[in-house]
Amino acid sequence: MIPAELQQLAYLAAAVLFIMGLKGLSSARTAVRGNALAATGMALAVAAALLDAGVLNWQWMLAGAVLGSGIGALAATRVQMTAMPEMVALLNGFGGAASALVAGAELQSYWSGADAPGLVVAAAIVLGTLIGCVTLTGSLIAFGKLSERLPGAALRYPGQQLLNGLLALFVLGLGVWITLEPLAAGTGYWLLVGLALLLGVLLVLPIGGADMPVVISLLNSYSGLAACATGFVLGNSGLVISGSLVGASGLVLTRIMCDAMNRSLANVLFGAFGAESETAAAGASQGVAKGYTPEDAAVIFSNARSCVVVPGYGMAVAQAQHAVRELADLLESRGIRVQFAVHPVAGRMPGHMNVLLAEADVAYEKLVEMDDINPQFAETDVALVIGANDVVNPQAREAGSAISGMPILDVDRAQHVFVIKRSMNPGFAGIQNPLFFHDNTMMIFGDAKGVVLSLVEAVRAY
Ligand code: TAP
Repeated sequence: MIPAELQQLAYLAAAVLFIMGLKGLSSARTAVRGNALAATGMALAVAAALLDAGVLNWQWMLAGAVLGSGIGALAATRVQMTAMPEMVALLNGFGGAASALVAGAELQSYWSGADAPGLVVAAAIVLGTLIGCVTLTGSLIAFGKLSERLPGAALRYPGQQLLNGLLALFVLGLGVWITLEPLAAGTGYWLLVGLALLLGVLLVLPIGGADMPVVISLLNSYSGLAACATGFVLGNSGLVISGSLVGASGLVLTRIMCDAMNRSLANVLFGAFGAESETAAAGASQGVAKGYTPEDAAVIFSNARSCVVVPGYGMAVAQAQHAVRELADLLESRGIRVQFAVHPVAGRMPGHMNVLLAEADVAYEKLVEMDDINPQFAETDVALVIGANDVVNPQAREAGSAISGMPILDVDRAQHVFVIKRSMNPGFAGIQNPLFFHDNTMMIFGDAKGVVLSLVEAVRAY
């Protein structure tokens, strides 16, 4: 048991550490430190909460902590980098479930006591339950779609949005009634739980698997809001602050992802982009793409002075980042200036390429953001596109395509463009890429890692 003032002070210190942590996470250079600061803040907040008088049974607390940490540590060490979004989806879902459980348990304790909760607490119980349940089942569907345990296609049927809208309105109405009559709620509360769980499923089903990273970021924000509401239920300022930080940062991230794809959040949630793209004429031909060998590319490298590497989702799939770094070092040793152009939504999660390149020890200074690199392409000898597709698709500059208006990396303006991919298959947006048919483009087909390693050999040999 610690004095209340000390506990509040600990929460305040934790909040400062969270904010410093978030600031650190905004750049790859400071991300590790940011993570450590935020983790320290969380440890402090948990310790302050545990030292409060409210802990009834230390054995249960300890068993939960050991079991939860064990499973978390095991899952985190085993997860593949490309499977990170689905792991985050599960974590969001569990966060939502925890908030809903705490809110429900508090309501039960009011039911068995004499006092009714005040209006704010009753509203917070309803919000914590509602948002927590939607987050749980929505995240489970997102997890299922991303991990291909469920069909990734958007599931649509006539009147779907109307049904969802009516259900959401009914659930909100029910929530208002429970807020006003919390002690009489009884079955009404369990109905709220059931319908909120159903709503989570119905809201995510119509969204295509490819849009799941945006949905996961949004659900992450919801899990924060549910935690924030639960903070009001428990009168715990630490939970209110950390929940609102998660809610706000999740929303900011969602906004950044939508902006980088030039789509509104409404379009992601209700536009069934995944459905369209999956049925789009994936292979619509625009001529003949020319296949070349790594040896052909080595000849061009021998006369090049500058190279911009553009990594994409395929580099992550092939785990080619170390081979790419080897190639970059080799090219630099031959006097070629090498830079890396990172598109904000390259790959399948925010910062995907930055994480992989950092893992391969590519210096941060060599990573150039889209707005800074684009004016340089016209003076670049070789743009080396490794497993990227949509983020270099010039169709984005024209109206009427699935990616119209999306900002892209202007690789087609470079002297030569090498594209490494396995086939002519489209990327995430499901549309063909005219870049592959340009005169200055050389397609080098194959798995990214294998091709880059062959390029290393070919450049060495030339
Ligand atoms: P994509 O457009 O998805 O293209 C990736 C390409 O990599 C594919 O065309 C594929 O062609 C190739 N590939 C796959 N495995 C490969 C391997 N082992 N070796 C070589 N190539 C391989 O990727 P991108 O350019 O990075 O664009 C990302 C897309 O995801 C954007 O449309 C973006 O809007 C979307 N998105 C991103 C995010 C975030 S936050 N990053 C979130 C949601 C959506 P082959 O099959 O022919 O090899």
